Order: sequence, then C-alpha cells, then structure tokens
Amino acid sequence: MTRRGLRIAIPKGRLQPGALETFAAAGLDVPDAADLASRRLLFTRGGIEWIVVKDGDVPVYVEFGSADAGISGLDQILEHEADVYQPVELAFGRCRMMLIGSPDAPPLTRGVASTIATKYPNVTRRFLRERGFHLDIVPLQGSVELAAVLNLAPYIVDLVETGETARVHRLRLLETIAEIRPHFIVNKSSYRRDPELFRGLIATLLEKSTSMRQVGAM
Ligand code: PRP
Repeated sequence: MTRRGLRIAIPKGRLQPGALETFAAAGLDVPDAADLASRRLLFTRGGIEWIVVKDGDVPVYVEFGSADAGISGLDQILEHEADVYQPVELAFGRCRMMLIGSPDAPPLTRGVASTIATKYPNVTRRFLRERGFHLDIVPLQGSVELAAVLNLAPYIVDLVETGETARVHRLRLLETIAEIRPHFIVNKSSYRRDPELFRGLIATLLEKSTSMRQVGAM
C-alpha cells in the first residue's frame, strides 16, 4: 500500500478503549497497556504503526495522510470538516452534541447579543448562522459546562452522553445539534493506493461487530 506500512490513529480520550477493542476484535495487534503508559508516540505491532493522539487530531492526521486510517468521533469530523472516507459507523460511545443553557438563560433570541462557550467553534458557528443567531463564541478546551455554571456564558454547545453532568448542574438541554457516533475513517489517497486492504479491513470491522453499520460515505 503506502511507501511505509499501514498507520492507524487512535484517540486518547473517552473513545480510546472502544477504539482499541474494535481493532482487536478485527484481529489487529493493538498497543497494550504498557505501550500506552509509556511516553512513546508511535508503536509498531503486527506490522501496523499505531499513533495515539488527541481526539480532535485524529481526523487531521488522517485527512493529511500522516495516518492512513483511524477512529474519530463525528463531533471532531464535523468540527474539522475532515475530507476523509467514513465507511463504518461504530456503536460504542454514542452521545449527542447539544445546545445547553444555564438555569436562568433566557430563550435564544435573534438580535440579542449573548455569548456561547464551546470546544466546537466551527460547528457552533454554522449552527448559529443557520438559525440566524449572532452570539459571540467563547472557545474552551474542556469541562465546558463550567462556563454555564459560572456565568462565563449563558449558553454552551457540548456533548451529552448520560445527561448526568447537565443534570447535577441544573443545566437545560435545549436542542440537539447532531447525533454523535465514532467512525472508522480512511484517508482517500491511502484507500485508492490499496483498496483491497481497506475493503478487507472494513468488511472485518463490520463482520466482527454486529452493532456496527455501514454508512454511505464512500
Ligand atoms: C464530555 C462532555 C461533557 C460530559 C457529558 O466530557 O464534554 O462534559 O462528557 O457526559 P454526561 O452527559 O454523561 O454527563 P469529557 O469527559 O469527554 O471531557 P471534557 O469535559 O474535558 O471535554
């Protein structure tokens, strides 16, 4: 396939256990706990190079071809508008990207200046534009609910999985922006260089997990 061997990107965050299980179930020799606990950035196992990167960097490495494939949440694919194939939607790690309000946030109103905090500024900007709202975006890196709790911003856009974080902080779930699932993603040039390899891997991923389903992104 490539001049080097196959290189796969694994996310560091909440999707990591599911991503490793997915590839292990497909018969790939994945990094083990000792690998992951080390300071190494790149592991070679079973003839595959594995890189472990921040969740938001997976679609970037894959789109630019520094990794041939990876597992990324749809949230990060949307945020980066990543131009990658998304042949398999995975069933673990389901959540929703939502517009959330502080307990006393007024209804969002067109023409009224306000702020919205998020680690997804691009998705948020598109969402607001589609609805004709003009809020200032406060970019954050994590624990975004805190912004609504501490009145940094009356609105936030964040992921909701169980809803527990929102519930304990009395935050209001106002609108679902997107249903979020992890996806197996593939660099387009890598796929074209060795379609047989990727077709085989995709088929195996689908076969090994009955809850995975193929989506029409290729
Ligand atoms: C995610 C998300 C919410 C929380 C929601 O955060 O950003 O903060 O989980 O989960 P819940 O609905 O089950 O309570 P994550 O733990 O990934 O880290 P982060 O807050 O640093 O982004």
